[in-house]
Amino acid sequence: MAKIFSGIQPTGQLHLGNYLGAIKNWVELQDTYDCIYCIVDYHAMTIPYQPDQMQKNILEAAADLIAAGIDPQKSILFIQSHVPEHTELAWMLNTVTPLSELKRMTQFKDKSKQFPENVNMGLFDYPVLQAADILLYSTDKVPVGEDQIQHLELTRLIARKFNQKFGETFVEPEVLLTKTPRVMSLKDPSKKMSKSLGPAHYIALTDKPEIIQDKIKKAVTDTGENSAEVSPGVQNLFTLLEIFGRAEVYKKFTAEHQAGKIKYAELKEELGQAISDYFADFREQKQKLLANPEGLRDLLAQGTKKAREIAVKNIKDIKNKVGL
Ligand code: TRP
Repeated sequence: MAKIFSGIQPTGQLHLGNYLGAIKNWVELQDTYDCIYCIVDYHAMTIPYQPDQMQKNILEAAADLIAAGIDPQKSILFIQSHVPEHTELAWMLNTVTPLSELKRMTQFKDKSKQFPENVNMGLFDYPVLQAADILLYSTDKVPVGEDQIQHLELTRLIARKFNQKFGETFVEPEVLLTKTPRVMSLKDPSKKMSKSLGPAHYIALTDKPEIIQDKIKKAVTDTGENSAEVSPGVQNLFTLLEIFGRAEVYKKFTAEHQAGKIKYAELKEELGQAISDYFADFREQKQKLLANPEGLRDLLAQGTKKAREIAVKNIKDIKNKVGL
């Protein structure tokens, strides 16, 4: 089976955008590929964060992934910093990465603007560590969203440069583009759903049914008068209903909208219910996992062991190639 690798930063609770943009797809890929999923804590250090929250966030991310359907028996799930070969390889890859390429990275530019007080070397080198994550496991395909295409192109370039200089070593990984519905903020549907906008803007996967209902109730729609046009807020609710609701319910509301007789309160009620139901099992599983942090750490330790087996073997070969 072809090999998949992907990573996610431990930044606290997941929201619907994260789920639909990555995790849902990761779960589905488990049946067709050998999957390795990594909680990238070294990457999370490149922007301001609270050290005393890090462990909590890592466990939370692990619980999120497992509760959502990542099966630690089927896939390898582990924490990046527990496999030191990632940073070892990143250093070696640094020596073949052109500075000019790193300077082009739009994520670096965006984050530099976002955190002008903390434009650090780690942020600049972030894509090289990401390349190391991927190349260390002879990855064939990397499921990511559009925003990571540039990093994947760089990863391919680094693999090529390394192979040219030191001999055939790395597979050039392909992007497996995750087609994601555009899930927008509930309060400001011109922006992507994101945690940084504040809790009213997103639905966390762990939100209780009352909270989900309340957030949806307060979501922006329109006056309902101009039925020919679908406003961004309404479009967003339709997008969510299409994903989480039953087909006939979705059809009913879109038809009503076209006819100019939709009642948004009804749509919202149905949508809130549909989202709550969809994640009912998730909420229960996550709570169970977090109630037993030792068990969770144990699962991650098993993942680390499996990841290291591959990493240690490959790094030996790589060091050989570079003359170390
Ligand atoms: N940069 C990715 C993101 O922000 C996270 C990531 C780190 C990653 N290492 C990776 C994704 C390796 C895919 C493969 O989403």
